Amino acid sequence: MILALPKGRNLKIALAAFRAAGFGLDGLETTDRRLRMSFPEDDLEVLMLKDWDLPLYVQYGIADCGVVGSDVLEEVDGDLLVPVRFKDGHCRLSIIGYQGAMPKPGEQARLASKYPQTARRILANRPWGAEVMKLSGSVELAPLLDLADVAVDIVQTGQTLKDNGLVELEVVREVAPCLVFNRASYQLHRSKINGWLERFEAAGVVV
Ligand code: PRP
Repeated sequence: MILALPKGRNLKIALAAFRAAGFGLDGLETTDRRLRMSFPEDDLEVLMLKDWDLPLYVQYGIADCGVVGSDVLEEVDGDLLVPVRFKDGHCRLSIIGYQGAMPKPGEQARLASKYPQTARRILANRPWGAEVMKLSGSVELAPLLDLADVAVDIVQTGQTLKDNGLVELEVVREVAPCLVFNRASYQLHRSKINGWLERFEAAGVVV
């Protein structure tokens, strides 16, 4: 099986979960710079990918499965199977900004996000509108420097907000790292995958 792992914050969660379920992944560290590794004792090949690219590799069958956040899955809208979410690494997708910055009904605001599609869906049922600006990172700077009135971004510990004098104006939804499968691989390796899922459940690392 070819497993795609994310190079970002979910790598630690994924490694801990796989190891708890009995996969050794010997020698693989969160600081690893190798992009492709073989773990014959686990019957695994591992690819290290950026979160945003990972769903594409799984959808096109280059990897059979992967670990990626539900925030990325929602934004890229890929055709993948998502049988379980991991228990650790949960965070929130929130509207953030200065205290009191939430736009009032009828107002037209500017909203910055790494998640423009998701942000537009969130806006669909709001009494206010917004021009959505896509950013790639350091999203907090946008409301901080008045590029945008508010942002839609991930909040985990809340430290980034705190350090920049911003607040969580509204929690939109919970976000979790997910185990995803290519549809054809799932059919082809169904019994092996069910064995994996049982191991994850027995280790108490999935919900
Ligand atoms: C994410 C998110 C916030 C931060 C929140 O960014 O966009 O900036 O983490 O985490 P906290 O609540 O624990 O402080 P990430 O670290 O992925 O980097 P980025 O700014 O490059 O997107």
